[in-house]
Amino acid sequence: MPDAMEDRWHLLLLMTRLLTGDPVLTFKKAIAFISNGSLTPDKATQEALIRAKRIDGKAIAEKVRAEVAQEVQDWLAAGNAKPGLAVVLVGEDPASATYVRGKERASVEVGMHSETRRLPTEVTQEELLGVIAELNADPAITGFLVQLPLPDHIDDDTVLHAIAPGKDVDGIHPFNMGLLLGGTPRLAPATPTGVLRLLAEEGVDTSGKHVVICGRSNIVGRPLAGLLLKRGNGGDATVTVCHSRTVDLGSFTRQADILVAAMGVPGLITRDMVKPGAVVIDVGTVRVEDPSHERGWRLAGDIALDVRDVASMRTPVPGGVGPMTIAMLLKNVMHAAQLSAGENA
Ligand code: GUN
Repeated sequence: MPDAMEDRWHLLLLMTRLLTGDPVLTFKKAIAFISNGSLTPDKATQEALIRAKRIDGKAIAEKVRAEVAQEVQDWLAAGNAKPGLAVVLVGEDPASATYVRGKERASVEVGMHSETRRLPTEVTQEELLGVIAELNADPAITGFLVQLPLPDHIDDDTVLHAIAPGKDVDGIHPFNMGLLLGGTPRLAPATPTGVLRLLAEEGVDTSGKHVVICGRSNIVGRPLAGLLLKRGNGGDATVTVCHSRTVDLGSFTRQADILVAAMGVPGLITRDMVKPGAVVIDVGTVRVEDPSHERGWRLAGDIALDVRDVASMRTPVPGGVGPMTIAMLLKNVMHAAQLSAGENA
């Protein structure tokens, strides 16, 4: 193309971008506007031009933590014992250590007793089971969790199944998982309940919606599917669960009214895999090297940033689902306290 011609096209593109308020409008869409005979985009283009609303998980998590702090105060005022959360951390994984410190700090802030049992990587399974037996029997501990992942020489299931179901604030003991899948959840995993709370706070109704979940972990994908299938408020969804062996992932994700990505694969969900107007929830949080950050890494989600140009709402990473996990864990500790006192059973 001659230079003058190219300049004119660029000018046209810039003008169309200004008129539509879309700073990333492509040539193709600009031509579609112009050939329409007006600058009013057709419906499909309008949908494609939506810039997703950023869901502020940090603010919603603060609200949830304030609710729990009030519940703790009321609980103590009624003459009950202080609720206590214990976290068992095995080994030196830096990401796990950060999460555990966050849980410790948050539980103290809402007025709970907090305890962390730090064990060396080489701890034996028997020793770990001994710590779990102690926590099961300790009246100062309302609920506890064993931070995952565990070292390879320890069998996750053996350990998790040893936690008393009434103190299983991670909600992953088969007893709690069974109740959840049966449609009557008691202690449910915090990340899925955090996702549902975000949707509720944003007024996103799940009833009749097609929710596509990417990821089948016991802590996110599976329990989230179970909760969304529940009858009633926050449920009644049509659910598809995809995973690492799903063939043609995009053919499923493009059907989603609500898309939840929980695979731990940075940038897995690209713009072409999302239906215009969909709500996208990013559960992925992987540390990736980034020399432009002082510490040398940043947290990356599963959903590529340019998805915001087609979605109607999206959670950021960090500051989306992450803060909700801790907030909902605190809710679970309070719930476990009420359950053990025979309330809300
Ligand atoms: N590791 C990463 N997320 C979690 C979680 O929610 N619970 C436990 N126990 N370990 C984790």
